[in-house]
Amino acid sequence: MSEILRIRGGAKLEGTVPISGSKNAAVAIIPAAILGDSPSVIHNLPDIDDVYSFVKILRYLGAEVEFEHGTMRVDPRGIDRFELPDEMVNRMRASYYLVPTLMNRMGRAAVPTPGGCNIGNRPIDLTVNALTSLGSRVDTTGGVIRAEKTGDFGGSNVYLRVPSVGATINTMLAAVMAPGRTTIFNAAREPHIVDTANFLNSMGAKIRGAGMDTIRIEGVPVLHGSDEYWVIPDQIETGTLMIAAAATKGDVYLSGTIPTHMESLTAKLLEMGVDVQSEDDVIHVRSVGDHRMIEVTTAVYPGFPTDLQQPLTALMTVGWGRGRMTETIFENRFRYLDELNRMGADVRLRNNAAEINGVEKLYGARVTATDLRAGAALVVAALMAEGVSEISGVEYIKRGYEHIDEKLRHLGADIEYI
Ligand code: UD1
Repeated sequence: MSEILRIRGGAKLEGTVPISGSKNAAVAIIPAAILGDSPSVIHNLPDIDDVYSFVKILRYLGAEVEFEHGTMRVDPRGIDRFELPDEMVNRMRASYYLVPTLMNRMGRAAVPTPGGCNIGNRPIDLTVNALTSLGSRVDTTGGVIRAEKTGDFGGSNVYLRVPSVGATINTMLAAVMAPGRTTIFNAAREPHIVDTANFLNSMGAKIRGAGMDTIRIEGVPVLHGSDEYWVIPDQIETGTLMIAAAATKGDVYLSGTIPTHMESLTAKLLEMGVDVQSEDDVIHVRSVGDHRMIEVTTAVYPGFPTDLQQPLTALMTVGWGRGRMTETIFENRFRYLDELNRMGADVRLRNNAAEINGVEKLYGARVTATDLRAGAALVVAALMAEGVSEISGVEYIKRGYEHIDEKLRHLGADIEYI
């Protein structure tokens, strides 16, 4: 029988919780490590299924990988394969970061088109165009991305139609070893882009401007392993736990995080009447009394992240008045609303916005997570609901949240995997 997350709602979260390393940085930095001509050591990796998937994939390719207590040592020198079978990548969007890295290492790559969460159409045209403009031959027929260096492989100007995280990272991963200069215009600016660029620079790459909308890269012929690299804290785990603290009218300190990455969420929680304060690497969230209804629109960083759209919507279901959550990044990221309504919420989808009529309380129910962040939304809803909820589809949650049950239990929640 498959696993279920069982939560009895109503407990106030209190105490201190440490934040784990960033999933989205980890899944870019691990494949980047295969570009080195010597081993890399990466610290502060989250203990999540997506990281274990990469361990399997890199070993299959021929790398030596050790992973223990959040630290991974990758020795890519034995890699002798450039092709990945379907079953290895079927759940993970980030598997396509192996296209430019394998191409740089082996001259060519063949990676099945990526899976990941079912949140709408997730095209890869920007990555294909970028690799092509750098002089690679790319073919995506038959469900496989095949990329090969040609004699023209070299730096180029890459204009992104939208500031895509995946396309920005893939372009960097290819351009770091493409002779000459590459400039990425309209690049994404998310914290994990900066972290990936910092990691590549620690391997000897020459990237400037990551975190801004124009990134300049000078290609180098050889990269070495990175001796000791520490991955940044997870922005989305931080946000989810901030929301969970507010949802239970709790009093929680989140430690080992980067408060400046959280400014868009902090602004929205303050608007709702939640008390949020930060000092150094600690954020303190405290909530007493009713929450005010707000309007939120997702946007690229530093705007409000689409990955927190679902958990914040869950928090907004309880309260007085009407609120609205507008999704501008992914078309199909509202499938969890039916589940929230089964728990007593009153939310209606109109075009790309969830219109929320605040209710007095939610009630525990059997619900199903349809993707990673929808799972997080249901956890938030279950924590504030009266009675017991049973959440299925927990494999999504395990892909991206490190030991969420232990962390919430430590804060006083009644939660267990059964
Ligand atoms: C990454 C994150 C994911 C987050 C998302 C947006 C990882 C592993 N995943 O996903 O958690 O929700 O950023 O912050 O880091 N697009 C195109 N063509 C492309 C690529 C994207 O049209 O080739 C569009 C997408 O349909 C979407 C938008 O660009 O509307 C943003 O997608 P993108 O930033 O690429 O998201 P991911 O990298 O897949």
